[in-house]
Order: sequence, then C-alpha cells, then structure tokens
Amino acid sequence: MNISRRKSIAHILFYGSPLASFGYGSLIEKRLVSVTKKEIPLQEAHGSLDGFRVAVMGDFHHDDFGDNDLIRRAVEKINAEGVDLVMLVGDFVSEDPRALRPLCDELQNLRPQLGTFAVHGNHDRWHVGSALGTHLTDAGIRLLSNESVEFPDVVVAGLDSIWGGHPDLPATFKNTGKDKPIIAGWHEPDTFNMYQDSRVALQVSGHTHGGQICAPVKGPILLPRYGKIYPYGHYRKNGSSLFVTRGVGTLSVPARFLCPPEIAILTLRGHGSIAS
Ligand SMILES: [Fe+2]
Repeated sequence: MNISRRKSIAHILFYGSPLASFGYGSLIEKRLVSVTKKEIPLQEAHGSLDGFRVAVMGDFHHDDFGDNDLIRRAVEKINAEGVDLVMLVGDFVSEDPRALRPLCDELQNLRPQLGTFAVHGNHDRWHVGSALGTHLTDAGIRLLSNESVEFPDVVVAGLDSIWGGHPDLPATFKNTGKDKPIIAGWHEPDTFNMYQDSRVALQVSGHTHGGQICAPVKGPILLPRYGKIYPYGHYRKNGSSLFVTRGVGTLSVPARFLCPPEIAILTLRGHGSIAS
C-alpha cells in the first residue's frame, strides 16, 4: 500500500470512525515495533565519535502496557544492530513496581559493546523509589542519576527527572574533562533548552510518546509538561543534538495511532561525513 493511500485510510479512520481507529490503535498499532535509523551530525570537536552507535528505548509503562513479547522483539532488534551503547530513557512503569521484574527479565538480554544505561522518568520518581535501581542492577543495567561514566572516547551521563526528581547538571558533569564529548540521557526533552554545554554531543530523551495518539497532518493531540517544545525526532542547538523517541509503551489510553512503538538506532557522524 503506498503512503498516500495509507494516509487517506488513517484520515478516514480518525475523523470518520473514532471507534474503528481506537480498535486499530489498541489491537494493532501498539503491538508493532518500528526501528528508526538516524544519522546524527557531530560538531567538529566531537569527530572522535564518528561511527558511534546508540540505541534509545524508553517509556515502557510496563504495568499499563505489559507486552513482554514486544519488549523481547525490541531487544532482539537492538542486539542485531550491534550498537555501542543502549540508553533507556525512563518511565519503566506508570505506578506499580511489580512490573519491573518481567520487564527487566527481557532488558537483561541487551548486549551493547560498552553497556546499557538508564535514567529515571517522572513516573519512576513518583511511584517506584529504590526498587528501580535494584532491578536494573540485577539486569546488568546502570542507572545514572546525576552521574556520569567515563570511557576512553566518550562520557555517558544521566540526569534525574526534572518533573519528578532533582536534576543537578554541575554534579553530573563535574568530573568530565573539557574536551571529551558527552552523551546524556534526560527523560524530559524540553530540558534541552535549560542548559548549554559544548561538550554535549547528544542528549536522548523520551517522555512525550511522540504524542501517542496523533491526528493526520496535525500530529500530536496532547503533549505532557516538559515535552511541548520537542515532541519527537532530531533537533540541533549550538552544535549539540537532541533525539526524542516515541518510546514503546502506552499511558492513560491503551492505544497508539499514527505513532507506533519505536526503538531508535542513532549513528553519530563526524563533521562533513553525512551524505547530503
Ligand atoms: Fe514521562
């Protein structure tokens, strides 16, 4: 089916039959996993990261969503890409920490070269407490809350949720050398406007679900606090990049429409190495 035909059908479903579009969104679209592959341009000073690959996944809301099979397929797709790093951008559950165990049973199978890292989402901060760190550690995943980890070519940093926690940028970057590029996870994307640091090559975020329910042409209908400026995709500012993923789970409404679950595979590209 070509794209314009698909868009026409989506338009008819959305505006002509809300019930049918809810059925499609709850039974079909929310069970799809789309892989978004994107090349992220680097400023000249971060050229050492040319070819570095980051997988981004988040907003599981696993107590609401609970699709272990979808998470398993997402993990398999990431492993097949052979990425350097995985960043899980928060909101592992909506409220119930008991969903962490089945979720982490799948996430523990991620196999990136440098490691899998995670940051808190606002829901994790509101409802989970220390259980998140315990479950992630057991799964071999490092939770970064205002912390950074230094590797030979890159620093991996994670900020606490701005809505539910207490982010501290100076503490997070305090041991970071002035020339080493940083890849930072921060759940809420609009934080990208709250700082400027030339060491940050890439911030990865989630939180918005890309809108979760999108209208044809118009896009997201509702966006959350701290997710209104940068709802989805790649943005650049002062030489740093931001990528916002749609995430994999659902919240409030158990459906997605024109906004399928996503895992993102980002390849960083040095100055001038992206074909135009
Ligand atoms: Fe969130």
